[in-house]
Amino acid sequence: MKLAVQIAPGNERGLELKNPVVAASGTIGYGTEYAELVDINRLGAVVSKGTTLKPRPGNPQPRLCETASGLLNSVGLENKGIEAVIAEEAPVWATWNVPVLVNIAGDGVDDYAELAYALDGVAGVSGIEVNISCPNVARGGMEFGTSAKDAAAVTRAVKGHTSLPIVVKLTPNVTDIAEIACAVEEAGADAISLVNTLRGMSIDVEARKPFLGGVTGGLSGPAIKPVALYMVYRVAQAVRVPVIGGGGIISARDAIEFIMAGASAFWVSTGVLVDPNAPFDVLDGVVDFMERQGVEDIAELIGAAASA
Ligand SMILES: Cc1cc2nc3c(=O)[nH]c(=O)nc-3n(C[C@H](O)[C@H](O)[C@H](O)COP(=O)(O)O)c2cc1C
Repeated sequence: MKLAVQIAPGNERGLELKNPVVAASGTIGYGTEYAELVDINRLGAVVSKGTTLKPRPGNPQPRLCETASGLLNSVGLENKGIEAVIAEEAPVWATWNVPVLVNIAGDGVDDYAELAYALDGVAGVSGIEVNISCPNVARGGMEFGTSAKDAAAVTRAVKGHTSLPIVVKLTPNVTDIAEIACAVEEAGADAISLVNTLRGMSIDVEARKPFLGGVTGGLSGPAIKPVALYMVYRVAQAVRVPVIGGGGIISARDAIEFIMAGASAFWVSTGVLVDPNAPFDVLDGVVDFMERQGVEDIAELIGAAASA
């Protein structure tokens, strides 16, 4: 049975995943602690926590709030900064048998270019995920992902400063996600990932104030799955580059829905907080499904529902 997928066919380095399961940015930090709990090398790919030029302390507490079948977070891109990531984390990644992508975020286009340049040629880094979709920062982040022009400008800047495969991560907080997807494809994205979180909030009624320290947060988990699935379906039909899909995946059935909507790979992110083994259970479930259905190659399922 063939589970391997190529997610950067247009890039000279390429980026082949041994299976389509990705541990997404944010819920496993830099992956090193997670690797103590699970066999990280069984994953298709790992994406680091959002990384900026300088270290960021993140937003005030509280940063997490459970909602009906979802999670609101307002972490605000807390991270140790690119220099420390390259010096301390990349050497560990270089010992793994799984590609690691660094998720990058900047206040301006120049930051993204600098981050891409810094990562080029670093052992242990197999690609870059360009985060133009974080709803929890005052500058940069989602601002870029809600304008086709700005999204393309960031993509071009990253592309111009690295030969690494680049995946551009889109926000669902837009009117027409296909327009943004086409703009970043045109600007040179090797693949597109979606969705980041949906902006939301919660109110502490006793205190009569917003619950989260950052006031608003990003909604993830099963609550957003139908929205994410629709957006993946729409984007996969609008672009030719591979799509990595996610949002609320917790079971193999969820993952297969994303594959059939047109995703070449998918992630489990909030699901990892519920059960660290979730990505592996999902992988086993996908294999069971393929066996039951007599599917030899996962490629047969990619976009299988897309022409319906
Ligand atoms: C606590 C938390 C932190 C996150 N941090 C990042 C981040 O640093 N960069 C990023 O691109 N996405 C980040 N995300 C978004 C996830 O990668 C994912 O796009 C989103 O949560 C939807 O998928 P899910 O429902 O499977 O969690 C974060 C999500 C959560 C829950």
